[in-house]
Amino acid sequence: MQRVVVTGANRGIGLEFTRQLLARGDRVYAACRHPGKALALTGLAAAHPGHLRVLPLELTSERSIAEFVREFAALGDALDLLINNGGILVTGERFGALTAKSLNDSFAANAAGPLLVTQALAPLLDKGNKPRVVNITSELGSLAMARRFGTPSYSISKAALNMATRQLAAVLAPRITVFCLHPGWVRTDMGGADAPLTVAQSVTAMLNVIDSATAADAGRYLDYAGAALAW
Ligand SMILES: NC(=O)c1ccc[n+]([C@@H]2O[C@H](COP(=O)([O-])OP(=O)(O)OC[C@H]3O[C@@H](n4cnc5c(N)ncnc54)[C@H](OP(=O)(O)O)[C@@H]3O)[C@@H](O)[C@H]2O)c1
Repeated sequence: MQRVVVTGANRGIGLEFTRQLLARGDRVYAACRHPGKALALTGLAAAHPGHLRVLPLELTSERSIAEFVREFAALGDALDLLINNGGILVTGERFGALTAKSLNDSFAANAAGPLLVTQALAPLLDKGNKPRVVNITSELGSLAMARRFGTPSYSISKAALNMATRQLAAVLAPRITVFCLHPGWVRTDMGGADAPLTVAQSVTAMLNVIDSATAADAGRYLDYAGAALAW
């Protein structure tokens, strides 16, 4: 039984991580902005008594992060796995009409949030069993693969998350293994209806990669099938 925190757990990929982790008997701390509205999580909590706690977390707020970690710590568990999954995609951006708000909001949710959550949870990860941190990134954050102008706020913030992953991997090794995973193009609110992968396919594959990860994977940039991506 692993003790797992999943952020952005109320829908999409985060909800599917929560579902699959519970189905195999893990204990999940599901973080989301509005627990009172997270009906899918409420249903899962009823189906898995004692295995799911839903806690509020707004990734762009330092105060919310501190409160989340305080609430988690008060429950008395250590942490084996942190999945930094929550994130936003600003659509419809055009060169000539970029805004500071889109850039700043994306950085706050997609890069600063996961970095600060990891920093705050590090002492509890330190007490965990083979602790790992997985940052859910995107291939759109790859500098090497960037060829066209598109979703700049998202892509720039995921590139920043990739650097945050390298920084965290360095400071937390060898005790805590940190790496980042691209989930593939997945059929969610963010990925849209044309995406080839279902959430179940993506999450099953990512859990295989996470389960087989070793300290040698610290600081790596992998896709859902475990293949290395170019930074
Ligand atoms: N779907 C894809 O094809 C794809 C591809 C590459 C990478 N990814 C990455 O995979 C992760 C999950 O994506 P998804 O497809 O499941 O997206 P999604 O369906 O849009 O879900 C995003 C989740 O993140 C949460 N979130 C957003 N901003 C937040 C904030 N400021 N504080 C706390 N939670 C916040 C959302 O909460 P609310 O419900 O409150 O908004 C929601 O739970 C993201 O990091 C995304 O960038 C997805």
